[in-house]
Amino acid sequence: MNIATQAAQIGLEWDSRTGAVTVPIYQTATFRHPGLGQSTGYDYSRSGNPTRQSLEAGIARLDGAARGFAYSSGMAAITSLLFLFSRGDHIVVTEDLYGGTYRLFEQIFNQFGLEFTYVDTSDASLVEAAIRPNTRALFVESLTNPLLKVADIRLLSTLCRQRGLLCIVDNTFLTPYLMRPLELGADIAIYSGSKYLSGHNDTICGLVTVKEPQLAEKVYFHQNGAGAVLGPQDSWLTIRGMKTLSVRLDRQQENAMALARWLKSHPRVTKVYYPGLEEHPGHGLLQEQADGFGAMIAFEVADHSLVEQLLLKTELISFAESLGGVETLMTFPAVQTHADIEPEKRELLGITDRLLRLSVGIEDVRDLIADLEQAFSI
Ligand SMILES: Cc1ncc(COP(=O)(O)O)c(C=O)c1O
Repeated sequence: MNIATQAAQIGLEWDSRTGAVTVPIYQTATFRHPGLGQSTGYDYSRSGNPTRQSLEAGIARLDGAARGFAYSSGMAAITSLLFLFSRGDHIVVTEDLYGGTYRLFEQIFNQFGLEFTYVDTSDASLVEAAIRPNTRALFVESLTNPLLKVADIRLLSTLCRQRGLLCIVDNTFLTPYLMRPLELGADIAIYSGSKYLSGHNDTICGLVTVKEPQLAEKVYFHQNGAGAVLGPQDSWLTIRGMKTLSVRLDRQQENAMALARWLKSHPRVTKVYYPGLEEHPGHGLLQEQADGFGAMIAFEVADHSLVEQLLLKTELISFAESLGGVETLMTFPAVQTHADIEPEKRELLGITDRLLRLSVGIEDVRDLIADLEQAFSI
């Protein structure tokens, strides 16, 4: 069944007693046992809650996974996955990844003896060269943040399988609507559900999908053991958001393409990063492995002074972190999302002090262009 159809139907199968077409919010911490040694299948909401399970089953269906898991944030989801590894294990990671993930790896899990090497994962030969005898996994962003580099997930998954590594894909920027990493061979996909999946800038949520049942059992053990689960209210909000994922993303992508073209022709813009543009180095590869180009754009302005001017003078476009919601947001990665990456490293990666990132929403694109135009011309 088409992903758009599956997403719209999440939660519909659950309440056979009343026929409710949306899953009820089971706002309960615990469940009564019908008898000694008996269970309804639910004992305690950290271990399992029907609203959360509806979301977990839904994301698993979209990704073609054995199981799905919902966490209190994307970072909680990544943290829980790191419990699969032990002291001395090494993980190869995308170099221009989300700054919060970098901080988690370098400032928290480093202390527990995990080692990380950062490479340009759009070049599989660099990934291969970084593999060591103690390497256990590859952690790759399918579309990187903020420079929108494209990794060849099929090729990298094959490499991981040959070398006995887990292939973990952060697919936040594309979502299962546009790309399904497990179908391309990856073992695990993770999502910040706070972005496109919930889609309205009103929920913090993390989701994980796991291809193989045996590995899924381990992930469940850690989810329950560490306990950073998503509450029933936020599970419900995420389901509600996911129902409209396809229509939102269709519109967002259409807007992003129009905005990228407009930015490209602007005299005070020196570079535009959008994989939908034919000249983007990952354009062809993304076309092969995904059903769209997403709705994130990064662009460089001619002069640093324009950064503040655009962030503060746009009226419709909000200067705010995060992405994927219906409202268009603009941010300055060097100071906001990627502040935890050392300045020299940032500059080398191309996250310069002239780079802005746009998360394109569902507004009328003519209004977005007019807003940018007036901010540029002040
Ligand atoms: C690509 C990516 N992965 C993970 C995260 C972390 O997710 P959360 O903010 O839901 O903890 C983010 C957040 O911005 C992100 O952009």
